[in-house]
Amino acid sequence: MSKPDPKTFGHEFRNALGQFATGVTIVTTMDGEQKPVGVTASSFNSVSLDPPLILWSLAKTAHSMPAYQKSGGFNVHVLASHQDSLSNQFARPSDDKFVGVEWGPCADGFPLLPEYAALFRCKTSFQYEGGDHIIFVGEVIDFERNELPPLLFHSGRYADTKVKDLDIPTDPGVDLADASFTENFLLYLISRAHFQTSNPVRQAAQDIGLSETEYFCISILTMNGELYQQEVISRLEHTGHIPDADIFARLERKALIKRSGDKVAIAEQGRNIFVEFLSLSKSLDEQIKKHFTPEEVASATKFLQKIIDITGTDIPELW
Ligand SMILES: Cc1cc2nc3c(=O)[nH]c(=O)nc-3n(C[C@H](O)[C@H](O)[C@H](O)COP(=O)(O)O)c2cc1C
Repeated sequence: MSKPDPKTFGHEFRNALGQFATGVTIVTTMDGEQKPVGVTASSFNSVSLDPPLILWSLAKTAHSMPAYQKSGGFNVHVLASHQDSLSNQFARPSDDKFVGVEWGPCADGFPLLPEYAALFRCKTSFQYEGGDHIIFVGEVIDFERNELPPLLFHSGRYADTKVKDLDIPTDPGVDLADASFTENFLLYLISRAHFQTSNPVRQAAQDIGLSETEYFCISILTMNGELYQQEVISRLEHTGHIPDADIFARLERKALIKRSGDKVAIAEQGRNIFVEFLSLSKSLDEQIKKHFTPEEVASATKFLQKIIDITGTDIPELW
């Protein structure tokens, strides 16, 4: 953190504070002549639940300061999203800020505005010195909430709330009574993502007359050199693709592998086909990643790797 420059400190301090988004309130009270007064204040905040206390602060230079210091109470109106011009009306010094506002007195005689997202009627409990402001702490006597979106204030401008979507699905994804599942069922999503992303390669293999089991067989042999037939079979069994007794003879006839006694190895043509499929997979991988940020890719990779680690303790590495 750099040392603040005294020439620009005030401006930068305000800008930094402006990063703290707040709601907007109008705080009203009565002055000594029983005239309504009000100010726009974004310094409102909650303090205590028991007893119910709130606070807000007012500049010592505010014309209405004496009224708040003496009245013994005030009403805090939390403004609704459409009330930005009312907020401006109460933020400008004026002899009658209530012009055009249909206000009425509350039970304690303090001004009540006709509309708000929430209202807190307060008795002034404490007043504290706070530099160039006075901090008012109010005990909440009564409050009310209306189903209206609130007005926000951020970096010197009004704003609306934009609620973020919940990332966590609330639906458990499976209904055992119904023997059904929805798209929030993680294992279904993983299977479906795998099925869809491997489809182009499966299709390409089919186009040249290779079954999925045969494709797995040539991939194991490309990556492992020479293996006993039984080794290839046991590795394939873990994928759920059980090879038939004829698989090696068939692949040799297609010139994709070479047999020598009980051992098998990849032939040049088999290796070329596998490399072709591998580059198809790689380009699909790149295309899919383009839809995500590097951070999303990194966390998805970590997530999938962890699932593999958790669920695959007794399964040998395939290749
Ligand atoms: C969105 C917004 C929030 C404000 N918040 C505060 C505040 O918390 N405290 C304050 O003293 N002035 C705040 N002001 C400025 C006062 O509303 C303004 O200075 C007001 O006119 C002072 O009251 P007065 O008319 O009695 O002098 C805010 C102004 C705006 C536009």
